Amino acid sequence: MKNILAVYNGSFDFLDKIKISPLSRAYTFSDSVYEVIPFYNSKIIAFDEHIARLEKSCEALSFSIKILDISNEILELITKSKVQHGYIYYQVTRGIDNLRSHMFDKDISIETFGYAVEHIFKSQSLKVMLCEDLRWQRCDIKSTSLLGNIMSMNDAKNLGCDEVIMHKNKIITEGGASNIFFATDECVYTPHLSKNILPGITRELLIKDIKKAGIKVEEGIFSIDDLIEAKSIWLTSSTKGLAQVVEIKNQETNIQIDHELFVKCDKIFKDNYLT
Ligand SMILES: Cc1ncc(COP(=O)(O)O)c(C=O)c1O
Repeated sequence: MKNILAVYNGSFDFLDKIKISPLSRAYTFSDSVYEVIPFYNSKIIAFDEHIARLEKSCEALSFSIKILDISNEILELITKSKVQHGYIYYQVTRGIDNLRSHMFDKDISIETFGYAVEHIFKSQSLKVMLCEDLRWQRCDIKSTSLLGNIMSMNDAKNLGCDEVIMHKNKIITEGGASNIFFATDECVYTPHLSKNILPGITRELLIKDIKKAGIKVEEGIFSIDDLIEAKSIWLTSSTKGLAQVVEIKNQETNIQIDHELFVKCDKIFKDNYLT
């Protein structure tokens, strides 16, 4: 944690120097939203898209924010940190209560917190566990309330897995901290956007870029049985890029490692953002 540059309510300091109130609603209620914004070679990947999603998450919870000030603060954090390859974690909290209370005071002031950290963007192969999606009905909001994800991902960890693929009554939703794609020889498939999944920025970039390259993509409703037919399955996120699934612990698959469509999509993504 040493020497990680952070910013709390507009003041820059090292992460281990920052102190927050236990009455921060982030602490008592997870009444907060966040973004993870990657940058490679000091170039931010999809800055506008991340800022737009943060604004949307804040809007959904009626947080009134000054998005321009937040954008400038994030840019300053990247410059000041001198980190070349990494990401910004940035959180907006409703504020600090006088006393813990579900119903917040209308005069409460937004609390902001962010830091810049180094990250190695490397190809990953993942072992995953399939599990029921335990989460709430607004997974489209990038909230810090992530208990469902945390419970499932730690069950997966105890089984020697790196991630989960979640489903609601056999309908695939997403990974614990990622979106899911799978492919046959002809087409790439991914669950359509809904309140059950996070509108991942990597997902959005990938769909746009591979379509442009002539690859067929279908967004829709898919069952966990479709994964049995898949030649390739991968998970996407801002820190993982495209991470190939090499094994599902509790389901049979017919996955081919380094299947042609996965390799093509991965190359398109890396060429566009990680060079
Ligand atoms: C639940 C969930 N879905 C999807 C994603 C991928 O989103 P993005 O590509 O914007 O990082 C994440 C990222 O953390 C996530 O937590």
